[in-house]
Amino acid sequence: MEKLIIRNEKASDKAEVEAMLRNAFWDVYMPGCSEHYLAHVMREHKDFIPELDLVAELDGKIIGSIMYARSVLKDGSGNEKDVLTFGPLGILPEFQRKGAGKALMERSFAAALEMGYEAVVIFGNPGNYVSSGFKSCKKYNVCLEGDVFPTAMLVKELKPGALDGRKQFYCESPVYNIDISAAEEFDKLFEPREKGYRPSQEKFFIYSHSLVQ
Ligand SMILES: CC(C)(COP(=O)(O)OP(=O)(O)OC[C@H]1O[C@@H](n2cnc3c(N)ncnc32)[C@H](O)[C@@H]1OP(=O)(O)O)[C@@H](O)C(=O)NCCC(=O)NCCS
Repeated sequence: MEKLIIRNEKASDKAEVEAMLRNAFWDVYMPGCSEHYLAHVMREHKDFIPELDLVAELDGKIIGSIMYARSVLKDGSGNEKDVLTFGPLGILPEFQRKGAGKALMERSFAAALEMGYEAVVIFGNPGNYVSSGFKSCKKYNVCLEGDVFPTAMLVKELKPGALDGRKQFYCESPVYNIDISAAEEFDKLFEPREKGYRPSQEKFFIYSHSLVQ
């Protein structure tokens, strides 16, 4: 990993990044996956942030990528604050748990802070993110409509003190609300691959259906 290069995605990387994401996410959260399609549509979306679209390259091969969109926090008085959401974030299975995911996150956080962004809100498995400074949304009083604090909703302040504890509602960019049938059509452009079950799908179900009290 010493030779790992983190750089911005180039137009010529797109197909390789989408194929890499398909391999990184296949059967992890559901039979098959749709993150390669998300990446494909995200680049054209108004909320996409190309400056934070980074790839991890090793010996000329793209082994990982992270992509960001602009989302919003709204307080009870109608004030709005732009925040960041990242996803997909993926590393090729054979290169996972060697620090590449963390390197992509750390580099993107530094660039985001320079761009003036102060906080990141994501949905993910806490085990992947707490060591990079993410905390439960409840700790920052950031919730979903209906005062809901999902277990998998995690918040990181890029600028300490950026979130002052007032209740704020997280409004995720609509780019993440992808058309599943369009994703299935898109997947037909790739090498056919069998869909299967993995225990990580059950872990995902549990995390994505639980709330912090
Ligand atoms: C999640 C993912 C991006 C992490 O990248 P990575 O390069 O494998 O992880 P890193 O080596 O940088 O480790 C980052 C942290 O996550 C933890 N971690 C990574 N994979 C993990 C796993 N499968 N289970 C639990 N913890 C994990 C590591 O322990 C590390 O924490 P630490 O610093 O306390 O040791 C990568 O494993 C991946 O692409 N997974 C499949 C797709 C996916 O789940 N993407 C995230 C969607 S929210």
